[in-house]
Amino acid sequence: MPAFPLPRLPRIAYGGDYNPEQWAPSVWAEDAQLMREAGVNLVSVGIFSWAMLELRPGRYEFGWLDRVLDTLAKAGVSVCLANATASPPPWMAKKFPASCAVARDGGAMFPGSRQHYSPFSADYRRCALALTEAIARRYAKHPALAAWHVNNEYSCHQQECHSPAATRAFRGWLRKKYRTLGALNDAWTTAFWSQRYGAWDEIWTPRRAPYHNNPAQELDYARFWDEGCLDLYLAERAVLKRHSPDLPVTTNFMWPFKPLNYRRWAEHCDFIAWDAYPDPHGAPPEFSAYGHDLMRSLRPELPFVLMEQATTQVNWRPINGLKRPGQMRALSLQAVARGADGVMFFQWRQSQGGAEKFHSAMVPHAGAQTGNRVWREVTGLGVDLEALTPVAGSGVKARAAIVFDWENWWALELPSKPARIDYAAVVADFHRLCFRRNLTVDFVAPGADLSAYEVVFAPALYLLRAADAKNLSDYARAGGKLVVSYFSGIVDEHERVALGGYPAHLREALGLVVEEWDGLAPGTTRRVKLPGGKTTAGAEFAEVVHLEGAKATATFAEDFYAGKPAATRHKFGAGQTYYLATRFDDAALARLLDGVVPRGAQAPAGVEISERRDGRRTFTFVLNHTRAAVTVPLPRAAVGTTDLLTGRKVGRRVKLAAFGCAVLAAR
Ligand code: GAL
Repeated sequence: MPAFPLPRLPRIAYGGDYNPEQWAPSVWAEDAQLMREAGVNLVSVGIFSWAMLELRPGRYEFGWLDRVLDTLAKAGVSVCLANATASPPPWMAKKFPASCAVARDGGAMFPGSRQHYSPFSADYRRCALALTEAIARRYAKHPALAAWHVNNEYSCHQQECHSPAATRAFRGWLRKKYRTLGALNDAWTTAFWSQRYGAWDEIWTPRRAPYHNNPAQELDYARFWDEGCLDLYLAERAVLKRHSPDLPVTTNFMWPFKPLNYRRWAEHCDFIAWDAYPDPHGAPPEFSAYGHDLMRSLRPELPFVLMEQATTQVNWRPINGLKRPGQMRALSLQAVARGADGVMFFQWRQSQGGAEKFHSAMVPHAGAQTGNRVWREVTGLGVDLEALTPVAGSGVKARAAIVFDWENWWALELPSKPARIDYAAVVADFHRLCFRRNLTVDFVAPGADLSAYEVVFAPALYLLRAADAKNLSDYARAGGKLVVSYFSGIVDEHERVALGGYPAHLREALGLVVEEWDGLAPGTTRRVKLPGGKTTAGAEFAEVVHLEGAKATATFAEDFYAGKPAATRHKFGAGQTYYLATRFDDAALARLLDGVVPRGAQAPAGVEISERRDGRRTFTFVLNHTRAAVTVPLPRAAVGTTDLLTGRKVGRRVKLAAFGCAVLAAR
């Protein structure tokens, strides 16, 4: 594992978004002082500063930012400086009305919120690149600079644009991809519903329509949108790299987030940064673990940064619960446990006005008083992260992998399907199974090298290219354990069914054929007999499966397919494949895959144990995500080691208070 890619930070990054433009200059010195007190060493500055940096078109005003950066440099706080293009100033919409994005129904966005621009607007792009150029020229050599933060959460609010410019760009993109209209007509199956195109300018982005748009057109539009946003990012990044080839450049990702294929973006980010906002009341710890594992897997060779999280409440859910005492710390250390070398917040100081004034921050409205719980926890976390300095740069090794594919996500959730399958939720079933066994999981592309994994899951892999199906089959044939779930291997990259019996390209590896399926309405299930005679309920989807070499390990116990397989096992080459023909609940899934999925460390429910390693040492994270104290027996590698957080030696077990944490390593 290479050293952390922020060369100017000797330890784990700690801090948050810093928006000094919302405050009088007299507050800035206090900010710097408080940052030192809290152990903050990195802040993201300028993300939403465009209107304050370019007051009128082409008239830049950098004086205030100079002062802010100088103050931070003097205080020893590094800066991840934004190129400030996340939200254009109101003058842009006035001067260039076509810079605003256009929704599916043709209605345009207006200024007054944020991110109302179209990534396909030439005017937006020109102004954004000019601003980036001006910022890069002025600050590339500033002593506070540690990294560049490009734009902000691309596509977070705008996930489509149907402006004339976007439409023209879509046509150009299609032309480049298909070269001839014949090829496009074929790929889009336009023989259906009289959709045959005779000229490129007959094609539209998938707009408001009386009924379903062509699914291949929708899928290509999803690709086009993703690539359009990526192209904008690459242009912004190129300007920054030209001025400072050695400074890392990144942008912040989200999870679960469907519109952008982050796997393609990741190769253009010098480190992965992402924003995690689990609902403190609704989301169990496995939910944030899922996000961390996915983000780490995008660049497994590098530590990532948790770029934003809330100290306690957010403002944007209908009901915003707080994080309980200790919960923010446990969730922060969970990020580190899963590969983060940075823990940051939105935002440093809680806004006094504006739409996010009730979003929590590191410095609350009350100010930084020692009696204030949030501030106390913020300063406490600074101390903890300093104590975890030896962890920085260490890696995470996973024994299992889950295939996760954005193109499949886009295709699977298009309308006119047998059932509404929520891809991220189905994938979560398998991640949760592993999480509860303390088994670390990587998320991989269907064409990835799988040879390092003991077991690979491919849930609801509806869109599956023949070459990727071969990759999965080859993994099993060579001795791997491959678990596939319902509605997999159904269509190719153009949403065209692979004929001859589902799942065409996986049929041999799975040793079965799916004849038909039943979409099950929410709340309805089909009884399934498990090994040993117990029954469970299959939900969402039920398939009629015929065995072609595989053995049934569970069978449906009702409907006309009673007695037919609901789960199977098949010896394939030197390995095994498993198939699940319905959605099982957690208990049934654990039962069916018990011998298939290895176990990590044993821990009480709600306690997470995971490891990071460098060449020399193992760091064992023991995190209690429950509201009760627990005693946790330690895995062998952690017995007799020292808790880096307390400096105390541990024996065979460790006692943790509610939301208590230990990070154990040999001294
Ligand atoms: C993020 C965004 C921040 C802030 C935060 C609030 O999506 O990047 O600017 O709005 O949400 O939770």
